Amino acid sequence: MSRVKLNAAKSALEKIPKTGPIGLGSGSTVAIFAEELGRLISEGTNDICVVPSSYQAYQLAIKYQIPLTNLDINPELVLTIDGADEVDKNLNLTKGGGGALFQEKVVASASKKLIIIVDESKLVDKLASRFLIPIEILPFSLGVVQKKIESMGIEPIVRQAEKKMGPVVSDNGNFILDLKFPKPIDDPARVAVDLKMISGVVETGLFVGMTDEVHVGKEDKAYVIKK
Ligand code: A5P
Repeated sequence: MSRVKLNAAKSALEKIPKTGPIGLGSGSTVAIFAEELGRLISEGTNDICVVPSSYQAYQLAIKYQIPLTNLDINPELVLTIDGADEVDKNLNLTKGGGGALFQEKVVASASKKLIIIVDESKLVDKLASRFLIPIEILPFSLGVVQKKIESMGIEPIVRQAEKKMGPVVSDNGNFILDLKFPKPIDDPARVAVDLKMISGVVETGLFVGMTDEVHVGKEDKAYVIKK
């Protein structure tokens, strides 16, 4: 197991409340966090339940015996712990490397606080520096969305499945496009709105102004960047 990710996960674990519903993000760092959370819950000192942000998160909760809830029962969450693919200097995020961006954003939006767990390689000056920007789109809209995005000077790449022929199908039955920007993004809020205005775009992997804390894991410790 990555020590760097474990240190980020353990740092975030210290922020878990004694009781209440929380959001459980997705990704490999969250998988390590979920194991630690399961251990904490098994000690009996916390009364926590989670809203999972993907099938992966749901299965992690089952595996580590973390009580489950949902947004119908708990539309307001104390906090959410999630990973990220990029974090800019204003704590805006690129997410969706694992294809789970839509439910992740819904869960984050229901949360009073969003805590992100990453390693230092995820820290960038501007988003789209190292990672393509994923968006989730309705399959029916593929052709028209591709054309509109190309007209914005951005290259859309349909994410392909690895152990299935054809495109990745998200947890919501949609396609994922990875957007290649000509240069890093100066104004992620503007870009997020422009993309979301295209009919057929369900959600973008740009998480703007949502993050409260970023817990950055290193080999020997973690440090926290606050908003
Ligand atoms: C899932 O779609 C993503 O948003 C993840 O949270 C993100 O890709 C970070 O994942 P890792 O912790 O595996 O890098």
